[in-house]
Amino acid sequence: MSASSRPMQPETAQVHHPYAAPAGFDAQLPAVHKASSVFFPSVEALRRTEWIDGSGYTYGLHGTPTTLTLQARLATLEGANHVLLAPSGLAAITLVDIALLARGDELLLPDNVYGPSRSFATHELQAWGIAHRIYDPMDPASLEAALTPATKLVWLEAPGSVTLEFPDLRGLVRRVRERAPQALIALDNTWGAGLAFDAFDLGEGLAVDLTVHALTKYPSGGADVLMGSVACRDEALYRRLALAHARLGLGVGLNDVEAVLRGLPSMRLRYEAQDAAARRIAQWAQGRPEFVRVLSPTLPGSPGHEHWAALCRSAAGLLTLELDPRFDRAAVDAFVDGLRFFRIAWSWGGPVSLAVPYEARAMRSLATPYRGTLVRLCIGLESVDDLIADLAASADAALKIDDLKV
Ligand SMILES: Cc1ncc(COP(=O)(O)O)c(C=O)c1O
Repeated sequence: MSASSRPMQPETAQVHHPYAAPAGFDAQLPAVHKASSVFFPSVEALRRTEWIDGSGYTYGLHGTPTTLTLQARLATLEGANHVLLAPSGLAAITLVDIALLARGDELLLPDNVYGPSRSFATHELQAWGIAHRIYDPMDPASLEAALTPATKLVWLEAPGSVTLEFPDLRGLVRRVRERAPQALIALDNTWGAGLAFDAFDLGEGLAVDLTVHALTKYPSGGADVLMGSVACRDEALYRRLALAHARLGLGVGLNDVEAVLRGLPSMRLRYEAQDAAARRIAQWAQGRPEFVRVLSPTLPGSPGHEHWAALCRSAAGLLTLELDPRFDRAAVDAFVDGLRFFRIAWSWGGPVSLAVPYEARAMRSLATPYRGTLVRLCIGLESVDDLIADLAASADAALKIDDLKV
């Protein structure tokens, strides 16, 4: 009996079963394709198949139909042509730094940059001979003064994720284009999420070169996934990033990709609901004497409101309360600890509202206008009335404004 006609043993049949389900199944969510190994029909096909242009499959790390589907949807969301997936938003940020910077290059970061991005520059990049300079995101002249012939990458964030100042993105991009044409511009687009404004079309012919998006936040929407993406339009830039991504071995779990694909259809509804809720809470908080300032780009008087108004259609559901500086740390902690629906946790974009206190001065290198402790609120999907009642009750109990010494 030849090997090909010999019946399979039961365990072999469970590995090489001849049944294949009929093609043509169609449903609301795309199928989930999971693999490390991907089969090739021949050695010749193994040698010729290419992954980098999305034309074929070579290995799970370099794409399955499920990751390509998510990448295509994210490209549409952000107005990009190419998207890469990373295991977290932070991994997407560090991928960009590693891919685009070499010894002797300089990197520019806004003073309100996402903290771990600054830490990566201070520790790893510095040790690799890549210097960074900090600029004031609200002052384009400060960015301009920090640009040198060695500047190869400029990070933007709109707004800063704790203090929520919205910079003049067009003004910043224009300065870099005019003064440092050798530099690439990267935007952390997590707050805008591809919904609030178009990073690849800022108007007046201006655009960033690439965006990073912590899919952990709004695209997932469930606070149960960590993932990030890098998006760009330019083919050569994509290839640079994609080759570094492949060499670093950055893979994402296919169940997590599926979770983000499930989140995307409802993302705009969630984003807009959380935006509306945050605006109502911000209005309410402005009337409370315990808070000397309410920071949200949607509020007139909040830093950069005019830049937000000129560029954006909507806003993420975040706001930050600046407490009267006469409240000591114990009072602020008691206010946050006393909240019932707001849980104490990092991140945003999930169903549960979150609160975290921050000392702004400790997070900055340049001068900061914030004197009191900041409490950042991320608004979830609860009733806004319940959230306002929660904040009011905890403020009444913990922040005794009448007892403060003048
Ligand atoms: C603005 C911003 N960018 C990036 C990240 C990093 O995302 P991840 O938590 O997925 O690493 C965060 C996370 O809080 C963030 O707030």
